[in-house]
Amino acid sequence: MSTFSAPKGIPEYLPPESASFLAVRETLADAARRAGYGYVELPLFEDTTLFARGVGESTDVVSKEMYTFADRGGRSVTLRPEGTAGVTRSVIENGLDRGQLPVKLYYSGAFFRYERPQAGRYRQLQQLGVEAIGVDDPALDAEVIAIADEGYKRLGLTGYRIELTSLGDDSCRPAYRAKLQEFLRGLPLDEETRRRAELNPLRVLDDKRPEVRDLLAEAPLMVDHLSAEAKEHYEQVKGHLADLGVEFAENPRLVRGLDYYTKTTFEFVHDGLGAQSGIGGGGRYDGLMAELGGQELSGVGFGLGVDRTLLACQAEGLTVGEQARCDVYCVPLGEVAKRRLVTVAGELRRAGVRVDLAYGGKGLKGAMKGADRSGARFALVLGERDLESGAAQLKDLGSGEQRPVPLESAVDTIREALRP
Ligand code: HAM
Repeated sequence: MSTFSAPKGIPEYLPPESASFLAVRETLADAARRAGYGYVELPLFEDTTLFARGVGESTDVVSKEMYTFADRGGRSVTLRPEGTAGVTRSVIENGLDRGQLPVKLYYSGAFFRYERPQAGRYRQLQQLGVEAIGVDDPALDAEVIAIADEGYKRLGLTGYRIELTSLGDDSCRPAYRAKLQEFLRGLPLDEETRRRAELNPLRVLDDKRPEVRDLLAEAPLMVDHLSAEAKEHYEQVKGHLADLGVEFAENPRLVRGLDYYTKTTFEFVHDGLGAQSGIGGGGRYDGLMAELGGQELSGVGFGLGVDRTLLACQAEGLTVGEQARCDVYCVPLGEVAKRRLVTVAGELRRAGVRVDLAYGGKGLKGAMKGADRSGARFALVLGERDLESGAAQLKDLGSGEQRPVPLESAVDTIREALRP
C-alpha cells in the first residue's frame, strides 16, 4: 500500500508546537492592530503578470521561484510569492486610495516560493505583513519598523538586530547604478557574477564569498550618492527611530530580493538561525502604485517570517503561547454513564468551560491516565453506582481531593470551582 508525505520543503505545525506558531503570528498581528492597521484577506493566487510587474522580472523570486500554472480556463496564475503586490492591486481595484490616506492594512498567511529547501527556508512560508500606502512621511517608515520591533520584543526576543539603509529614488539611483556597474566591470569577476552585475548590480554587493567581498571593499555605496531629498528622508527616518527608542545598525550593503524598493529598506536579522537569518524585512516602494496602474502614491511596509520568528523563539529557549488544554475531563464508566456525561459535557461547553471526555469505553485506570495527560484541573467521573444517586465524582487532579457533585447542578458547581 502506498503512503503519502507532505510536499517537500513545507513545514507543518502540530500540537504542542502549533500553539506557539499561532501565538507568534497573533503577537505580531496585535502590534500592527495597535497602530491602526486593518486586516485584509488576500487571494492566494493572482494573475502572473501582477507579480512579474510588481516584484520585478530580474528578481530570483520572479525568474526562478514562482509557482505558475495555467488554470482550466487557460489563464496564467501564480501562487502569491509575497504580499505587497497583492495589497497594492487591491487598494487600486477597490478605490481605497481615493479615501483617507494612508491606507493601513495588515495580512497573514502562506506564501509560495520554489526555493531549495533547507533549515528555515521553505517552499510554503508564512508571513505577517503590513502596508501603509499613500503618504510619503519618514515618520511612517519609522512606525512600520517600530511595529515589527515591538512585536518581536513582546515575544521576548532579544537576539536580533535591525539593519537599515536607503536605496535612494528615481532621481539618484540610476546614476549610482551606472557608477556601480562601471566599477564592477573593472573587477576580475566570474562569468555569472558579471551577468548579474549587468542585470542587477546591487545584488552583487550582497555576495557572501570572501574573495568577492575583498574585491568589493572599495565599491561605491548608494548612501554616499543619495539625492538631497532622499538623504533628508533617510536622516528623518533615523531621527524618528531614535525618538522611538528603536536601536538599529546602518548597513549600506543591505540588499533586498525584490525590485520595488526605494529609499528606506530594512531587515531584522537573528543570530541564532544559521544561514537563513532574516526574520523579517521591508521598506518603502514609491513607484509600485503607479507601476500597477494606480495613482502616483508611495507605500511602505514589511513582511515578517512567522516560521523563522518561531525558530528564533525556539533558539532563544522562549516558551511562547499556551497549550490548548481543558478544564474538565469527563470519565464515564459504562454506556448509560456515557450518555449522561456527553450531555453534561455539552452543557459545560455552552457555559464556556473547556471540556474533553474519555471516548472509546476505557476503564477507570486508562481514562484517568487520559485525564492527567489532558492537563485538566478536574476529572468528572460517573460510574454505574453514581447514576443511582444522581451525583458524579469531581476530582481535583492537582490535590487528589474528590467530592460528589449532583449532576443537576454540575454546571454551576464546576463553574464555581474553576473561578480563580
Ligand atoms: P521578503 O524579505 O522576501 O519580503 O520576505 C519577508 C520575510 O519572509 C523574510 O524576512 C523571511 O523571514 C520570510 N521568508 C521569505 N522567504 C522565506 C522562505 N523561503 N522560507 C521561510 N521564510 C521566508 C517580502 O516578501 C516583502 N513583501 C516584504 C514587504 C512588505 N516589503 C514591503 N512591504
